[in-house]
Amino acid sequence: MMTTYGISRLPWPVRTSQHRWYGLGRYYAMFPAPFVTSAVKTFTEVGDLVLDPFSGRGNAPYIAAALGRPSVAVDILPVAWLFTTAKLSPSESVDQVLARLRDLRKIVKPKDCRSRNVFETMAWAPVVRGFLRAARRELNWKESRVDRTLMAFIALHMQDSNPSGLSNRFSPTVAHSPSYAVRWWKKHRLLHPPETDPVAYLADRIQRRYVYGVPELAHSESQLGDARIELRNANAHNARLLLTSPPYHDMTDYWNDQWIRLWLLGAGMRKNWNKTQKHSNLGSYRSLINEVFTSAKKHIRNDGAVIVRCGDKPTTAEACREAIRLAWPSWSIFERRTEVRRQGKASGYGHGVRVVCERDYIVAPSEMADKARSWAQDVKLDC
Ligand SMILES: C[S@@+](CC[C@H](N)C(=O)[O-])C[C@H]1O[C@@H](n2cnc3c(N)ncnc32)[C@H](O)[C@@H]1O
Repeated sequence: MMTTYGISRLPWPVRTSQHRWYGLGRYYAMFPAPFVTSAVKTFTEVGDLVLDPFSGRGNAPYIAAALGRPSVAVDILPVAWLFTTAKLSPSESVDQVLARLRDLRKIVKPKDCRSRNVFETMAWAPVVRGFLRAARRELNWKESRVDRTLMAFIALHMQDSNPSGLSNRFSPTVAHSPSYAVRWWKKHRLLHPPETDPVAYLADRIQRRYVYGVPELAHSESQLGDARIELRNANAHNARLLLTSPPYHDMTDYWNDQWIRLWLLGAGMRKNWNKTQKHSNLGSYRSLINEVFTSAKKHIRNDGAVIVRCGDKPTTAEACREAIRLAWPSWSIFERRTEVRRQGKASGYGHGVRVVCERDYIVAPSEMADKARSWAQDVKLDC
């Protein structure tokens, strides 16, 4: 039985801080909000901990925390961690973020504005290039909450589909290769990036995000690192729900897809074409999934539940099922298939919404098996 979800129906009215901050960060393959909301409300009470060891841009931890459930998030990708952490604990003071933004203009050097290649020339106007380089050099996004909040806004808007935004037209979700981008701009006669003032543009976006203040969230943690290591070394978290979606086997290379934002955070400018992050090797992929779920086991309460979204590719689903079986051999496991409308990878390049099929495993101890079964079968499942 299939259920179809809209892209982002949220459990809060539009004019609320929770709604406003939820959207911070464009990311590929993120959880739909109704799915997370329903899972969190069904399998946890207010105050229960939710764990996501592959948290991406943080939809599960953010929604859980906004529904009064503290959360622990882990992701290996700095871009994912930046968006998640900026949302879970944004700077309380918009004035400090704006002051830091204005400081950046003062430290731009003439050489920051120079272009190194045709991609840079066509991607950003000199004033934006200079600003991005200054931000890259100056902002201490790992340590400072104000800098991290500002960096999340810059990362969000440096690669945009808005024709009067900071960049020439990009897909806001994934970054294509420089040569593809240049070819596409030339073909569509988008030869010059917009001459937008980055400080004014970002100040406006930041103020709009803060218009209802910052969201009230249950205290949550987000860790930047490999879940195999982070979960193995951490003390037991005692979570009531493990809600996660691992990288899919041989599908998405999050590092290559985010290479422009990774550059902003300090990585090299050129896209790295080696495909090791695509998890193409099935043996290594299965070890990764096994290790993470085995380590996750000690963090999940005996009366908890596990929900894993793993796409429709059989190799991903089999790896997840096997890992779940190894970690929770006596728990009941139910499968659910869902159709999800998703923004295409290259939506900024003119490709729109598509429908993908997702497969979820819902795993629970015998005393919760009825609840897990009925959730897996609920065709009206919604927030
Ligand atoms: C399918 S995405 C999760 C998307 C997320 N549910 C959301 O709503 O944004 C899988 C995530 O796993 C992360 N990842 C891959 N290998 C990892 C590892 N060894 N440890 C932690 N995170 C990892 C990727 O960076 C990616 O963000």
